[in-house]
Amino acid sequence: MDRERVIVVDSLYKSFKDNHILHGIDLTLHKGENLGIVGKSGIGKSVLTKCIVRLIEPDAGGIEVMGTNVLACDDSELNEVRKKVGYLFQGGALYDSMSVRENLSFPIRRTQFKDKEHDTEELIERSLRSVGLLDSIDSMPSELSGGMKKRIALARTLILNPGIILYDEPTTGLDAVTSGEISELMLKIREEYNTASIIITHDMKCAKIATDSIKIMSEGIFIVEGTYDELSRSDEKEIRDYFI
Ligand SMILES: Nc1ncnc2c1ncn2[C@@H]1O[C@H](COP(=O)(O)OP(=O)(O)OP(=O)(O)O)[C@@H](O)[C@H]1O
Ligand SMILES: [Mg+2]
Repeated sequence: MDRERVIVVDSLYKSFKDNHILHGIDLTLHKGENLGIVGKSGIGKSVLTKCIVRLIEPDAGGIEVMGTNVLACDDSELNEVRKKVGYLFQGGALYDSMSVRENLSFPIRRTQFKDKEHDTEELIERSLRSVGLLDSIDSMPSELSGGMKKRIALARTLILNPGIILYDEPTTGLDAVTSGEISELMLKIREEYNTASIIITHDMKCAKIATDSIKIMSEGIFIVEGTYDELSRSDEKEIRDYFI
């Protein structure tokens, strides 16, 4: 049987005035899959992921998330979709004036999330343990390194136990060793939380470690999809350029 499709994007279009960004984007994410997206800066990768959770309204096309037609949702249905989709924003900003504990309890309060088995404190501790930073529970963001902040931001996306995680540049600004650790962590999270993910990255080492296949975005569409190994053997210059 075919694997369950958890995100289906069908012929998506988005322009900002005369700035045409997405020109008929198709994408399918399957249960348990880690799908990488690469493409030049400004090409529309973040716009696409924001459309998926309707932080940006597309002009045309279809988006289905775990069987829900996202573009037909009212506010409360959209809230339910957003509980199922963890979004690690580019920059991964934490609230500087809140401790790690308060940063992590924020999504629970905002969405009035209820978990039958675990109280808020247990959820916070579990997600911090998953990213290896339980000791930082009472720290302020200013006391954390860049890599630690990324891990805390990841813990914050895990707190609602999402079925899907959208990672927007999870390793940008980190050294190669820390990037590698975060990439390994993304694989561990998939096992532990049984998630599927879209991973937007410029970091081809991250793509190599953390993704099952990679799509390359160019001029508003995906020009190719393949595994890291397949794409790295391509003769086409536009593809090869990502691997040197
Ligand atoms: N809310 C907005 N209003 C107007 N234009 C926008 C908006 N959001 C994004 N854009 C434009 O859409 C284009 C694509 O932006 P996007 O952030 O998706 O790029 P990206 O591929 O994520 O780039 P990077 O790799 O640098 O993060 C850019 O030209 C950007 O200026
Ligand atoms: Mg971006």
